[in-house]
Amino acid sequence: MSDMINKILKLKKEKNAVILAHNYQIPEIQDIADFVGDSLGLSQQAVSTNAELIVFCGVHFMAETASIIAPNKKVIIPDLEAGCSLAASITAEQLREWKKEYPDAVVVSYINTTAEIKAETDYCVTSSNAVKVVEAIPRNKKILFLPDKFLGQYVTLVTGRDMEIWNGACHVHEKIGEVSFKESQDQHPNAEFLVHPECGCSSSCMLKSKLYFDCKSIHIYSTEGMINYVKSSDKDEFVIATEVGILHRLKKIKPSAAFYPLSEKSVCEYMKMITVEKLYDALLNEKFEVKVSEELAAKARLSIERMLAIV
Ligand code: 13P
Ligand code: SF4
Repeated sequence: MSDMINKILKLKKEKNAVILAHNYQIPEIQDIADFVGDSLGLSQQAVSTNAELIVFCGVHFMAETASIIAPNKKVIIPDLEAGCSLAASITAEQLREWKKEYPDAVVVSYINTTAEIKAETDYCVTSSNAVKVVEAIPRNKKILFLPDKFLGQYVTLVTGRDMEIWNGACHVHEKIGEVSFKESQDQHPNAEFLVHPECGCSSSCMLKSKLYFDCKSIHIYSTEGMINYVKSSDKDEFVIATEVGILHRLKKIKPSAAFYPLSEKSVCEYMKMITVEKLYDALLNEKFEVKVSEELAAKARLSIERMLAIV
């Protein structure tokens, strides 16, 4: 393995490449990457890097987003099959039909969408900035929020805005809603609970924490938000409600703390498709390129630029 890692590092230098990895990638990929982060952080890295070749160790919509905002760089993904169930939950045709029902509404799409959806979108959001972006939209405007119903419900609860929400969900996070929070709280009474807003339980957690129990130990964060919370927290016990890949990074940041996944079954098989062998092959042969046509990218870029101007 170390031989292959050395080859990857050599190739990366020769080709002026950068390796970007999402927080859910396997530990070996996270350790070899130049940057590990959430959807927003990786998009920003794609824009600011001086590298000519971006190797995206994540899922397809993330590589597509990099191609949209960094059109002069070559973006490759080590496995083209690395998709996303949430991004697949709405088609551009379905969105166009939905827009016809609400012609005056503002369309807000989560970054977990295809380029075609982004091209039909007014504002793109990520889990770390959805509330801020929605709050920046004039209050008299109705909002069509897609595709994640749990993130949508969470944003509605926080902002109190008039929103129609698409009935989409991530197959991994949706199931976290079926896991008993109460059981975990009994097992770890002193732990802080960090919950991703895509989780089936995030909106009910919000209700519980803010309205019912005023429970200070439940926090809703994007994956990078969780990393930042742990970095600045003086606590040493955390229950993590998101994909388990993030635990590797959390343990590296705070080796003295204990981290418990709310559900060990929270594994995204798409994220795990990227292996060191595939990464080597991708770099060596500069495949598989993810290229969004300039016509589509120009439309899709607007929604991302509007988001980046707010956050
Ligand atoms: P983050 O933007 O919080 O990293 O989430 C991306 C994602 O795909 C969550 O499943
Ligand atoms: Fe998509 Fe869910 Fe995997 Fe995130 S965890 S990439 S939302 S399928």
